[in-house]
Amino acid sequence: GLVNTNDLFKKAIEGKYAIPAFNFNNMEQLQAIIAACVETKSPVILQVSSGARKYANQTLLRYMAQGAVEYAKELGLNIPVVLHLDHGDTFELCKDCIDSGFSSVMIDGSHHSYEDNIALTKKVVEYAHAHGVSVEGELGVLAGVEDDVVAEHHTYTRPEEVVDFVTRTGVDSLAISIGTSHGANKFTPAQCTRDENGILIPPPLRFDILEEIEKQIPGFPIVLHGASSVPQEYVATINKFGGALKDSIGIPEEQLRRAAASAVCKINIDSDGRLAMTAAVREVLATKPGEFDARKYLGPARDELKKLYSHKTVNVLGSAGKA
Ligand code: G3H
Ligand code: 13P
Ligand code: NA
Ligand code: ZN
Repeated sequence: GLVNTNDLFKKAIEGKYAIPAFNFNNMEQLQAIIAACVETKSPVILQVSSGARKYANQTLLRYMAQGAVEYAKELGLNIPVVLHLDHGDTFELCKDCIDSGFSSVMIDGSHHSYEDNIALTKKVVEYAHAHGVSVEGELGVLAGVEDDVVAEHHTYTRPEEVVDFVTRTGVDSLAISIGTSHGANKFTPAQCTRDENGILIPPPLRFDILEEIEKQIPGFPIVLHGASSVPQEYVATINKFGGALKDSIGIPEEQLRRAAASAVCKINIDSDGRLAMTAAVREVLATKPGEFDARKYLGPARDELKKLYSHKTVNVLGSAGKA
């Protein structure tokens, strides 16, 4: 069955790697995630966002995730699978997910006042822990679009708050803000420098803040949201076949590798999967105009997703071989 994050995070911290948290809202994504994680022997966190709940229905997604555990076994390996609510914004939503069989939830109170964030998070933790469900909280606000909340600038996590927050709430992991953001436009070109080939180099993540946080709460599981690297091959393919993505810039993989080796033990990736899928679909539709069987473009999209997810577990997060 589905597992919570406790054992996975303990091992990830000790082993200096990070568990992938991939968002899903359709069958092809889920098949690709499971196939990639079985093949590379990686544990996996399946994330359901508010947007995914609205799009695909929470009950259906939950059955799909439970089915994915069986699917993994059929493919040959019983990998640990977590079903996690991404960016839960109310106690009621978290409770509903817990009651329906999710094994982990995030309560994102980061846009509330500090004391309100603590009160809300603590309430979710009490209910979740009574049901064996793990809880992720958040301190600091990521710039960009965070679900329905639009934040103009980063509010970096304040290291001086983390001990108080984790002890008073009892959370199992803490999402922090050190310069990542959601979506495919994480930086403007003006924020970047250029290398000798004219390639844009984004400003580095604030590893100094991460290190300060690690000093305050040694060995405590840290979560990195907004961690897509926005592969430029996908952006190029999308734009070659009729897309119009502009200034799409992500987090360089080297920085994610560095984060994965630290107390960061969960790395959230959604946008990269969206780009992979869109690139593959656009290419088929543009090059094979006679196709009208959805499997003929969703199939190649699934293949591309599987490649992407395998690359993440093997080359970026280091979770391959840890299942
Ligand atoms: O945290 C944001 C995720 O990428 C989910 O976004 O609500 O559009 O599914 P979504
Ligand atoms: P990306 O938009 O960078 O993929 O981040 C996803 C995320 O943090 C989901 O919670
Ligand atoms: Na780690
Ligand atoms: Zn997020």
